[in-house]
Amino acid sequence: MSRLVIISNRLPVTIKKEAGDLIYHPSAGGLATGLNSLDESFEKIWIGWPGQDIKDEWERETVRQDLKKDGLFPVFLTQEQIELYYEGYSNKTIWPHFHYFTQYTSYRDHYWEAYQQVNRQFADEVIPLIKEGDLVWVHDYQLMLLPAMIREAYPDVSIGFFLHIPFPSYEVFRILPWRKEILEGILGADQIGFHTFGYMRHFLSAVYRICGFEHHFGMLTVGDRLVNVDMFPMGIDYNKYAHPEPASEESETAQKIIQLAEEQKLIISIDRLDYSKGIPQRVRAYANFLEKHPEYRGKVTLVMIVVPSRANVSQYQALKQKIDNLVGRVNGEYGNFGWVPIQYFYRSLDFGDLTTLYKVADIALITPLRDGMNLVAKEFIASKEASKNGVLILSEMAGAHNELHDSITVNPQDRQDITKALLQALTMDEAEQAKRLEGMQEKLKQHDVRNWAATFINEQKKLMESQKENIVK
Ligand code: G6P
Repeated sequence: MSRLVIISNRLPVTIKKEAGDLIYHPSAGGLATGLNSLDESFEKIWIGWPGQDIKDEWERETVRQDLKKDGLFPVFLTQEQIELYYEGYSNKTIWPHFHYFTQYTSYRDHYWEAYQQVNRQFADEVIPLIKEGDLVWVHDYQLMLLPAMIREAYPDVSIGFFLHIPFPSYEVFRILPWRKEILEGILGADQIGFHTFGYMRHFLSAVYRICGFEHHFGMLTVGDRLVNVDMFPMGIDYNKYAHPEPASEESETAQKIIQLAEEQKLIISIDRLDYSKGIPQRVRAYANFLEKHPEYRGKVTLVMIVVPSRANVSQYQALKQKIDNLVGRVNGEYGNFGWVPIQYFYRSLDFGDLTTLYKVADIALITPLRDGMNLVAKEFIASKEASKNGVLILSEMAGAHNELHDSITVNPQDRQDITKALLQALTMDEAEQAKRLEGMQEKLKQHDVRNWAATFINEQKKLMESQKENIVK
């Protein structure tokens, strides 16, 4: 049985210090769920940052021992590394750049130095853990130099790399001063995966123009190695959303949500607070809808959940201000004593409340300016398994749009387009809602997160076996 060595910036558990105690919380996200489902066929270990600056060596040792029982190995980052590598190069350089926000990109050498140094620190943690026959799987934009660093230590180990965010077009990518080093880092892997065909095409084009490697049906020859580049759109844990475990009793929040849905048409929007999500544009489009269609005032409510994220990064702080102001303005202008047009919450919802919201919502309004995939769109569709009632309005800039053709497609910058989509969604008959939902549900059921992880791993395994055969021959 092969062993899987997973490396991601964040571990599937995040440590928080509460009243001096170390508390372990599960990290949110599809990645942890998907990879946990591979238990039967793979023994696995996971290396990553536990999300907290733990200085004390005694505390670090306690964390190491606690996590080891679950096959988790922490990489501890100092406050300075968090600032320069995580908030800096990862989230002020790569994140905006790869999402086409080049006006937000910082080009600072000391961020780059910290990025190289932390990738090296991850390599130093991982290298002693690797055994012969292991499959190594590196995740996301925080660790793009890591595949080549592992390759240097183990010329024959099988390495996969998956990018969870968009890969931008060559014309944007080429602006990055460290473009060649980034590509060479990723090319240390044997298999490189993206959510969509577009991201994969942009990557191959950048590799050709910057490194000079041509591909043949996604297969690159890098030195004496074959590298497979392919698309693997990530799915969700379908059943978890289609058949959520009933809560022992509904929370007060869930009851309020249900009550609101009885009185109003509910439009929902759920995102991390991020400029790539198009939140101000969405609020303005909703205000435009209320302006153009006054007959809907008092009859619809936008429930907007904005999950705090990367709060130390200045652009995120500025965006928070902007959203607070805009929501206040729209509610002030259109609301009345009996009706608040936007119910806005700056926090995350627990799972029971989230699934209640999905279940009773009439419309999901998901309009990112750029999004690697967007799993919320998929979760909303799965949550409609029983009712077959609900409409998804989805930005064409989300990776998920490539699979969810039966949504209403919008350009997130086009206020009139979103206004029309809202009207179309609010007046769509139930038969059409059901027809659209069923088509999308079928797809998501088949291509769930287990299938995503298994497909990636099986392809990588096949490649590993064929590489071995070639060496033997
Ligand atoms: C995106 C990235 C992930 C990241 C997540 C949350 O989905 O692709 O790598 O973990 O955002 O962001 P955070 O900065 O809190 O890890």
